[in-house]
Amino acid sequence: MDRLTVQFQYMSQSGIVEVEFRSERMNKMEKPKSGPALKQLHSHRAIHEGGLAGAEQKTSDLIALLREGDLESANMAADDLVDYWKTRVIAHADAEEAGFYEEIATAKPELKDVVIQLIRDHDLMRIIVKDIEELREKEQLSPNVIHRFYSLMIVNDIHSRDEERLLFE
Ligand SMILES: [Fe+2]
Ligand SMILES: [Fe+2]
Repeated sequence: MDRLTVQFQYMSQSGIVEVEFRSERMNKMEKPKSGPALKQLHSHRAIHEGGLAGAEQKTSDLIALLREGDLESANMAADDLVDYWKTRVIAHADAEEAGFYEEIATAKPELKDVVIQLIRDHDLMRIIVKDIEELREKEQLSPNVIHRFYSLMIVNDIHSRDEERLLFE
């Protein structure tokens, strides 16, 4: 199977949020239209807030396990956290690049440069996640790895803020 798309809806404080995940193997030639959740500020912001809140919780769980000296559980928590970044946050970035950004750049050509900058933010997160995976093989849960988990949250926070401000306001 070259492509896997999972869609679901959930109720958030700001209403129904539609979430769509796609696998990395999605055929680049196919550019499906983005769902309504990405196009509306309130639902899009809810996706950002939910994504970051989950990462913060999982990161603090990981730190607590490290403090307790429970390395085996900490490594499982780190696996879970890497997976979370990929399936929740990077998947959101993939979905934006698969349709939403192009629709914006077509409708408002003056935002083309902004879109390029936002894609670079996505790439930074992809690079940091890959670095974490490579570093863990060599250094396990070293300070270098932990710093990168924190840097992901910072880059993601700045990116979400800019995306909401520059594309919607
Ligand atoms: Fe984004
Ligand atoms: Fe976004």
